[in-house]
Amino acid sequence: MNPTLFDQLSKLPERYKTMSTKEMEARVRAIKQQLGEELFIPGHHYQRDEVIQFADATGDSLQLAQICADNTSAKHIVFCGVHFMAETADMLTKDDQIVYLPDMRAGCSMADMATIEQTDITWQYLQQLFGDTIVPLTYVNSTASIKAFVGKHGGACVTSSNAVKMVEWAFTQKPRLLFLPDQHLGRNTAFSLGVPLEHMAVWDPIREKLEYDGELEDVQVILWKGHCSVHEGFNKWHIDDIRKNDPDMRVIVHPECSHDVIQAADDNGSTKYIIDTIESAPTGSRWAIGTEMNLVKRLITDHPDKHIISLNTNMCPCLTMNRIDLQHLLWALETIVEGGRGNVITVDADTTAQSIHALERMLQFAK
Ligand code: 13P
Ligand code: SF4
Repeated sequence: MNPTLFDQLSKLPERYKTMSTKEMEARVRAIKQQLGEELFIPGHHYQRDEVIQFADATGDSLQLAQICADNTSAKHIVFCGVHFMAETADMLTKDDQIVYLPDMRAGCSMADMATIEQTDITWQYLQQLFGDTIVPLTYVNSTASIKAFVGKHGGACVTSSNAVKMVEWAFTQKPRLLFLPDQHLGRNTAFSLGVPLEHMAVWDPIREKLEYDGELEDVQVILWKGHCSVHEGFNKWHIDDIRKNDPDMRVIVHPECSHDVIQAADDNGSTKYIIDTIESAPTGSRWAIGTEMNLVKRLITDHPDKHIISLNTNMCPCLTMNRIDLQHLLWALETIVEGGRGNVITVDADTTAQSIHALERMLQFAK
């Protein structure tokens, strides 16, 4: 993105840069009280503590999508998460509900790795190669246009919480699946269901090339060559170090990590699964967690009776999740109270109509 335009997208007024934390917190509290049920603030688990303290509901991607779909009364939904989550919330809520993203720069580098233009080219190529044998699945971490594409072609959205069920579903539809945009979640999920690595090809959208050595008829899964820049920061050697230095420590990671990390870890699962596992772990247990740092820090604070570290001790929070801070939250809320329309996320009607098919299939497998 052009850096000048990128910087302009925040546009945070100067006054918020000098305001004390105490004052900002007091103002957020007052606005929440003033707007009451009209205002709803969902917060993803990867958000900063200074923001999550004001969330009316917290959750992972799947939970927040469900929660937004269920909320038919709030007029203003101030989404504390990233752009694709706010788009999903807009598509799942009623037309008279307005979704805001406090900082428009809160994108997702993984979602940006699959554009609709690339996806159209890919689909044509794959149809020529494999005929009508493919169902597309997209991780919910993707733009609304990709969700619409998937909905239009009989596919579904997936989150890390229901990926296994969705991949199982996909194989009831067609013998092959295209998984966008996270190759790791696609590979790890298909592998856990018994698809051998030799039956998985990788589509490189930059070189427009299918990376595969075997016989084409053996291909069951086509993985889009995208990844999460946060979860790719965990390596197998981090786990090897822990095994050597602290053999009693258990390693749990998110399935956006690479396949060798998943194989070396003791356990893996979605954000919700990781939280639930740590909550139910015995006092005194020792954990190395391979996921986003704001969440790992919160788990450390919330569970002083357990010894918890990040699997990569040099890990930073997700840069884009972190863009939503107290200043931007307050600015978004004050804009609403003043009757302004800043930072509104709107997905057009056609895109929404097609995406809804893909999202509803995902929500059917939410439990
Ligand atoms: P979940 O919330 O589905 O675990 O996804 C993790 C993530 O990377 C969100 O951006
Ligand atoms: Fe995107 Fe990864 Fe950040 Fe999630 S953690 S928003 S997938 S970059």
